[in-house]
Amino acid sequence: PASVVVAIDGPSGTGKSSTSKAVAAKLGLSYLDTGAQYRAITWWMLTNGVDVDDAGAVAAASGKPVIVSGTDPSAPTITADGADASGPIRTPEVTAAVSAVSAVPEVRAAITALQRDIAAEAARTTAGIVVEGRDIGTTVLPDADLKIFLTASPEARAARRGGELKARPGDAGVDLEATREALLRRDAADSSRKTSPLAKAGDAVEVDTTDLTLEQVIECVVTLIEDKR
Ligand code: C5P
Repeated sequence: PASVVVAIDGPSGTGKSSTSKAVAAKLGLSYLDTGAQYRAITWWMLTNGVDVDDAGAVAAASGKPVIVSGTDPSAPTITADGADASGPIRTPEVTAAVSAVSAVPEVRAAITALQRDIAAEAARTTAGIVVEGRDIGTTVLPDADLKIFLTASPEARAARRGGELKARPGDAGVDLEATREALLRRDAADSSRKTSPLAKAGDAVEVDTTDLTLEQVIECVVTLIEDKR
């Protein structure tokens, strides 16, 4: 095909973002972080007085913010109503609220439409796109050229997430046990929600990253994509 559309799904801490960005940069593809979009709409709701525990209020506000994602893997950007959201979307407040917001069907409908537009545009005008998330292979892009589902043991995922948090300036130390619990809680919420839960598509290639380095995962995904081109 002239362009390639790749869906990469899986729970948090499997190396999804690092892998997706690196693979896209290496192969000259566009990149879309769909988690950042759900985080951006969550941040907008938190800063605009929407009660994120009230699904009705979240649904009513779901169409209000304009979320814009850049698709350059070497410099991903995200804005909500023109405001740079790339910093605030990584705060613990947003991380704690995002699963509830992203479980609301009206939010998913709005963000899914956005994701399909971005993927179609990239497929039309570039070499293709890597889209990472939870429901890309199952719901957003069921016709993707390649679907990958990344997994890893809960211990490996908590350790990676803990390492990421510690690497951020201002963070003295991170409680690994608390990180592990928060991560498992978010995955349980994402996997059990009614609308478009985190799930492996029937035709996805599963890659267990527990004992692989990031470089090995990147290499593996690059090979899978090259086989499709
Ligand atoms: O990938 P990340 O951890 O940034 O995603 C944040 C949250 O966004 C997830 O925990 C999930 O609730 C939601 N999400 C989703 N569907 C996607 C991507 C993310 O529901 N495709």
